[in-house]
Amino acid sequence: MKDSTKFIFRGLVVAVAASVLSFTAQAEESRFSVNNPEPKEGQLIHVPPTMDDLDKSNMHPELKRVIRRGYDLFMNTQQLRGKNVFNNMNCSSCHMGEGRLPFAGPVWPAVVTLPDYRGKNNHVNNLEERIAGCFSFSMNGTPPEYGSDDMLALTAYHQWLAKGVPMYADGKNMYGRGYPRLPEPEKEMDYKRGEQVYKENCVICHAEDGGGLVQNNKVVFPAVWGDNSYNWGAGIVRHYTLASFVKHNMPLGRPNSLTDQQAWDVAYYIDSQERPQEPRYTGDVKETREKYLDTFHKHTNYGVEIEGRLLGDHDNVGSKDFLKPDVLRPRTFTAE
Ligand code: HEC
Ligand code: HEC
Repeated sequence: MKDSTKFIFRGLVVAVAASVLSFTAQAEESRFSVNNPEPKEGQLIHVPPTMDDLDKSNMHPELKRVIRRGYDLFMNTQQLRGKNVFNNMNCSSCHMGEGRLPFAGPVWPAVVTLPDYRGKNNHVNNLEERIAGCFSFSMNGTPPEYGSDDMLALTAYHQWLAKGVPMYADGKNMYGRGYPRLPEPEKEMDYKRGEQVYKENCVICHAEDGGGLVQNNKVVFPAVWGDNSYNWGAGIVRHYTLASFVKHNMPLGRPNSLTDQQAWDVAYYIDSQERPQEPRYTGDVKETREKYLDTFHKHTNYGVEIEGRLLGDHDNVGSKDFLKPDVLRPRTFTAE
């Protein structure tokens, strides 16, 4: 490991503390004094560069302009509302701290681990296709065209964040990658207990009906379920992903304050509410669940009856007018 790379834990703490979230000044300070687990022996720790570092760098001004556009799209993806985004999410709604924070889905690992085979769609994906996945599911939308200005800008921002990390570094051994799985819950996840956790810790921002808060046409708090939330095919629908996201990032300003059990329970409760249809829907929820059971839906409540309701049994695709974006077509690499 080279000295020039900033894989130092102290650096991480400082960088995290120095990060600025453009949300509320009040929440900021406490939100970065997080009590995340310490790195394990031998884990790769990467401190992504900031936009300040970009300004100071000697990169070509035109490249800086593209990366800044990518950052702007990442933080305010709502500017693509109605074109590529059909819910109330920004990329930064789930990839907290500008996509830079460990335990909050930092996006740089994708840059250095792709192209690679992905079980979710059964073929080799590159960075553009990985980003397209979050547009199709998490944003309940359809991605900007491959090779377009917006896609170039987004990939350039991701690649900037990965600056200095060796290509094809061990993807399983990166500190805080994705939303690291919590220990299995001691008690089985429970709807009623989850509802209680939600009422006490989340409802103030995400609302009784899960719709969050929109003020003067601006999303203040994103929707955790319902038409303006992510769809049934999104990665965060998995109990373990949602539980970890919540544990390490919510309530906003008080990360790591819930017990693991509370995080699992509230994840189960949120996952027991309705949201836009899974883009891979075959027309039959039970069949769709079955089709993606092993790789995905055994970890979700999609196609399961809870509180007398069969979840996902509807044709509601939210505010878009299509079910499946074109890019989700199966793809085979045909060259010999
Ligand atoms: C509703 C939450 C949510 C939103 C919104 C969202 N993502 Fe994601 N994203 C996820 C989850 C969950 C994963 C999978 C993490 C894991 O594997 O544990 C992920 C993974 C990724 C990865 C791969 C990271 C890695 O470790 O390889 C990239 C890149 C990414 N998202 C980019 C984006 C971009 C760009 C946007 C906006 C267009 C976006 N995401 C919006 C939830 C979200
Ligand atoms: C003080 C307000 C606040 C509280 C309290 C809060 N959140 Fe959030 N939550 C946010 C904001 C803001 C975001 C988007 C992150 C960003 O933009 O930085 C978010 C994002 C999320 C997301 C990902 C995006 C989405 O809409 O699905 C989930 C899931 C979530 N919160 C769940 C919870 C849960 C569960 C609780 C209670 C344990 C909770 N939140 C408490 C403000 C809050």
